[in-house]
Amino acid sequence: MALSEKIKKTIDGIRHQFPTEQALLIPALHEVQNEFGWVSIDHMKDIGEFLHLPLSKVREVASFYTMFKLEKQGNVDLQICTNISCWLNGADKLVACAKKKLHVNVGETTPDGKFTLSQVECLASCGTAPALMLNEDYYENVDEAQLEKIIDDATKDLAAGKVVGKSTRQEGLWL
Ligand code: FES
Repeated sequence: MALSEKIKKTIDGIRHQFPTEQALLIPALHEVQNEFGWVSIDHMKDIGEFLHLPLSKVREVASFYTMFKLEKQGNVDLQICTNISCWLNGADKLVACAKKKLHVNVGETTPDGKFTLSQVECLASCGTAPALMLNEDYYENVDEAQLEKIIDDATKDLAAGKVVGKSTRQEGLWL
């Protein structure tokens, strides 16, 4: 598997804005994740080859940030923050609610491949805790009833063939 021409073109188009090949790692990882939904070890090898970096360096960065998914995800990645501010404001109830509603444990994907339930560290929304993300979309001050509605709405949208949780996606973000 090699990087797509689209990804290579994007990376080549922004090379001049970055001081080193290593500085291009984050954009390259984002581009791969945008295209495939996750970053496999083969993707990391391809990125390393393209940026002339060892696989260990690519892996080190990819595994540091929870925003990079290193395993295949469901269509919707429901990421609930359970760091201190969210925890004190009911994140544990949200996790329990999501587990019950989706019939999965944290880290698992529903058998139909629609939802992955993830527990993540601070989403930088501590002032409006508890916070969660549905793919790339933020939800703040969420309670259990709202979470159930968020999941129900996403289920309906998926059934209708709509893209879920990418309302803030900006194409050509790096250009
Ligand atoms: S602790 Fe949850 S957003 Fe910061």
